Amino acid sequence: MKACGRGYPHGMATTTKTKSTDAIVHLKDDHKEIRRLFDQFEKAGDGAEKTKGKLVDQIIELLTVHTYIENEVMYPRVRELLPDLEDDVLESYEEHHVADVLVMELSSMKPGDERFDAKTTVLIENVRHHIEEEEKEWFPKVREGLGRKSLQEIGAEMIAKRKKAPRRPSQPSALKKTIDAVVS
Ligand SMILES: [Fe+2]
Ligand SMILES: [Fe+2]
Repeated sequence: MKACGRGYPHGMATTTKTKSTDAIVHLKDDHKEIRRLFDQFEKAGDGAEKTKGKLVDQIIELLTVHTYIENEVMYPRVRELLPDLEDDVLESYEEHHVADVLVMELSSMKPGDERFDAKTTVLIENVRHHIEEEEKEWFPKVREGLGRKSLQEIGAEMIAKRKKAPRRPSQPSALKKTIDAVVS
């Protein structure tokens, strides 16, 4: 997608003084919830098909929404405002793409299927790695490069986009943006 405008001259976030809309805080909240679901899946044990099925449903929903707001807002804005981080953004798109494929496949499987646990485990490993890179390497660079005001404006934009986010990978808008972002 094409980002509109440069530098957010109109101060979109000025109406949200009471609660921080900081983009990184917002994404980290999602990461925390995603990690919590991963831990629960791992603790569920061998037999717990019903519990695992519910957890994977929640994981799929949260990852679909999270990927959407990162692909729609965070990555394009950072790419535009901090061109030095272009390589990191491109690597992120590729990591998301791998997760998208696994999420897509998992969404059509049942907890009793032979490869359900294995596929979920690989998804968890991939996403944990990606989240760790975002939090330890990428976010600090973004925070330093953009500063508080831009991050609040980007965060406000993400919160607005979240309302329109797809919840299942089968919804057309879920995968399209990843592909657009890489191909265009
Ligand atoms: Fe990401
Ligand atoms: Fe993320």
